[in-house]
Amino acid sequence: MAEVKVDESRWQILYKQAPEPMVTEDCFEISSYPADSIKALEDGQVLVKVTHISVDPYMRGRMNKTSYGQVWNIGQPCTGGLAGVVVESKSNDFAVGDKVTGFGPWRAQIAAPAQYFKKLPDQSLSPSLFLGGLGMPGNSAYLPFKKFSKIKAGDVVFVSGAAGAVGSIFGQLAKNAGATVYGSAGSDDKITLLKELGFDDATNYKKESPADGLDRMLGGKKIDCYFDNVGGETLDAVFPRMNLHGRIICCGMISQYNLKAEDKYGLKNVSHIVSSRLSLNGFIVSDWASEMEQATTDLIELVAAGKLRPVETIVEGYQNIPKTFVALFQGENKGKMVVKVADS
Ligand SMILES: NC(=O)c1ccc[n+]([C@@H]2O[C@H](COP(=O)([O-])OP(=O)(O)OC[C@H]3O[C@@H](n4cnc5c(N)ncnc54)[C@H](OP(=O)(O)O)[C@@H]3O)[C@@H](O)[C@H]2O)c1
Repeated sequence: MAEVKVDESRWQILYKQAPEPMVTEDCFEISSYPADSIKALEDGQVLVKVTHISVDPYMRGRMNKTSYGQVWNIGQPCTGGLAGVVVESKSNDFAVGDKVTGFGPWRAQIAAPAQYFKKLPDQSLSPSLFLGGLGMPGNSAYLPFKKFSKIKAGDVVFVSGAAGAVGSIFGQLAKNAGATVYGSAGSDDKITLLKELGFDDATNYKKESPADGLDRMLGGKKIDCYFDNVGGETLDAVFPRMNLHGRIICCGMISQYNLKAEDKYGLKNVSHIVSSRLSLNGFIVSDWASEMEQATTDLIELVAAGKLRPVETIVEGYQNIPKTFVALFQGENKGKMVVKVADS
């Protein structure tokens, strides 16, 4: 990664070069934004000190312009979900000290119209939770769970990427609904975590193939609902193991994000979609923006009732943002990966 002298109070992370195709720290540059880029606030604006930066797998798509969201442009700041605290306000809706979430550039401070930010619904909770289990990733589990999963007591559910931000929430929701829940993840530590979260069993896909892991856990049973975070070989192994009229929810396909087109996994078992009358639902959580506030309220209640445990991995320091983003694709997080860059 390019070494540039940085003014600690004005750090920013720029998107420097496209991955080829594996994302590395060289894709980013840490620098300082000009002091005069933050002007005196206009009426209706707030100045927010950024405290937490969310790094998410979907951002990998933004790097090669295939994203369903806003793309990152070379030489411009990376953007994404973040949390912060209001340090100056010319808005009637925000007071100095309010903790907020928003979407914006990876930099130390952001001056913007107040409507770019949302006050945390519970100021006593850690802001990082609103980037994870109580925020976009939590909603990405909760909303498709309600809309597509049709999970009922006694169902068999399989979740891949199960120890991550979205998967760990989906698995717990399925367990709360009375299902038998199996997961896959990439380390023995994560398998232990999944069992602590209530998963009935889990497979380390780096030690046994997805097909072998599923056969061992299922013991002849079939899957009623599969929540797919990884795609590729795991998704292919699931098709023949689905029950008649089973549901597959396609959340993400992280195993394919850093591959060249010619190296992407070619699915072989799709004929089971027909023979087993499967339904597949893909979704992009931002399409349900109007439902997220209620979903977050529901998730807060589940946490307060002890029925849901949001797991997070917090890394400290803006200097570590590029490294932490890359680490997502090396499986170094348990639950939601967040970088804390300042105190709230
Ligand atoms: N559709 C939507 O609106 C939406 C919204 C949010 C997220 N998503 C998708 O949901 C999935 C999970 O996102 P998240 O935010 O919860 O991330 P996450 O699971 O917290 O973090 C990424 C995890 O993916 C796993 N992984 C990395 N490379 C892999 C590979 N080659 N094969 C298999 N697993 C790999 C790693 O865990 P292991 O150690 O287990 O490998 C890593 O910890 C992603 O595919 C993401 O794009 C979709």
